[in-house]
Amino acid sequence: MDLHSSISHTVLSEDDIQARVRELGAQISEDYGDEPVLLIGVLRGAAIFVADLARAISSPVELDFMAVSSYGSSTKSSGVVRILKDLDETIEGRHVLVCEDILDTGLTLKYLLKNLASRRPASLEIVAMLSKEGKQRVPISCKYVGFHVADEFVVGYGLDYAERYRNLPYVGVLKPEIYAD
Ligand code: PRP
Repeated sequence: MDLHSSISHTVLSEDDIQARVRELGAQISEDYGDEPVLLIGVLRGAAIFVADLARAISSPVELDFMAVSSYGSSTKSSGVVRILKDLDETIEGRHVLVCEDILDTGLTLKYLLKNLASRRPASLEIVAMLSKEGKQRVPISCKYVGFHVADEFVVGYGLDYAERYRNLPYVGVLKPEIYAD
């Protein structure tokens, strides 16, 4: 089945996303200036966003990645997060910008921030491409947000359903029958 035919409607078009990524990149470049900024992509969802964002920033950019997983869906709400892949390098004294595709309950970022802060970076901020309205269960101070979106299940631009649809260049809502498969 064609990827696009599984989508009921588009929430953010490719043009919307690319324009916003350019704006975020310009803002980040202004804020960091000539200071090197270490972008930490949180795998897997943020991979697409980080790749675009890095190219929209004119400050010196360094890249690293982490992979995390909650302990099964039933305990996702517990906020217990497991590190599947840690950073390759130390972040002590560096300007760190954590890149997420989506901020939902905030539990993943709460854990990550606490963990990363203990490694004593020079600064620690977050950029999230999407933030779900009214879903945050813990307060997360996210310096840069691409878009605030309604609480519906969205896929594309890194976001998956059963590992698919991450490669859609836009963000959309799946047709209900896809879930029934
Ligand atoms: C998503 C997303 C965030 C997290 C946000 O990752 O990339 O990391 O959920 O949810 P929260 O705010 O409720 O903690 P997911 O666990 O789906 O993994 P993936 O990035 O590999 O798709």
